[in-house]
Amino acid sequence: MDFKHEPVMVTELISWLNCRPGGVYIDCTLGGGGHAQAILERISPGGHLIGIDRDPAALDAARRRLAPFKDMVSIIQGNYRDLKSLLAPFKLEKIDGFVFDLGVSSHQLESPDRGFSYQQDGPLDMRMNPQEGQTASDLVNGLSEDALAGIIQKYGEERWAKRIAQFIVQARRQKPLKTTGQLVEVIKAAIPAGARRRGPHPARRTFQALRIAVNDELNSISPSLKAAVELLTPGGRLGAISFHSLEDRIVKQTFRELARGCTCPPKLPVCVCGKQPQLQILTRRPIGPTSGELERNPRARSAKLRVGAKLAVVLKREVGE
Ligand SMILES: C[S@@+](CC[C@H](N)C(=O)[O-])C[C@H]1O[C@@H](n2cnc3c(N)ncnc32)[C@H](O)[C@@H]1O
Repeated sequence: MDFKHEPVMVTELISWLNCRPGGVYIDCTLGGGGHAQAILERISPGGHLIGIDRDPAALDAARRRLAPFKDMVSIIQGNYRDLKSLLAPFKLEKIDGFVFDLGVSSHQLESPDRGFSYQQDGPLDMRMNPQEGQTASDLVNGLSEDALAGIIQKYGEERWAKRIAQFIVQARRQKPLKTTGQLVEVIKAAIPAGARRRGPHPARRTFQALRIAVNDELNSISPSLKAAVELLTPGGRLGAISFHSLEDRIVKQTFRELARGCTCPPKLPVCVCGKQPQLQILTRRPIGPTSGELERNPRARSAKLRVGAKLAVVLKREVGE
């Protein structure tokens, strides 16, 4: 099966990242290599792109796509939460930009055998790295009703979370839920018919929630963005694309925290907290896709791009500053 994923806001990302020949960029969510290819075209000649992804199938696709760039590209399997240790062996002298294109690829979502899809039946898996961790089936069959309701509520913002958890627990008493199709039927039974007729597919929120829990998607975003900013060369850029409000909130708050710096009361003559602003936020409001892109790729509709530039370190705050 070909790798199907249309990268979002490519033109915007490339321009905000300030890609120039000779640049060194890290794509922390390489996927099929769509953004990476566009970056490589801009940083050629002399540039270097390191692509990271936790999904071996994505890496295979990216390797094929990026082969023409030869030794300008390095591809590694890993989780971006380990950014510093993944990059350490490269002994990079500078890093001009980082990309985080968060969440899952269309390829992952639409491959029935990966178990992310509520539209097509498949094993209830949802692991981005199929060699690691618990599957969605493990969670659905193993967690308590309260824990399931909590996940569906918190990560899916699903108003019927409690009922869905209750129905899952009832259903698994008969037999374990092993397929996406079985889970979809349980969710449909749990959501009252009137509510099911409105809005998106009734299983969308629960599937999003389980996917986030299985892959521990949200907890590593903020620490990884902070690690990226530490590693950036002053003036280097950090671009993060999010696809739902939970992700965007984390990106926004982390950018603000990195931009804030000293939090000492103004009457103190010297800084005692030692915090310095590390990032200049370049996008006051997040950038969204153009209407042309939305027509071509409706999946881009919820995408938001935020970009910051690494600030040079100021060694100390002067009295009266
Ligand atoms: C939206 S897709 C990226 C698509 C890519 N920008 C492109 O142009 O094809 C997100 C990718 O990030 C990967 N991913 C998600 N969380 C990750 C993590 N914590 N560490 C490494 N890769 C991750 C997923 O496996 C997926 O391939």
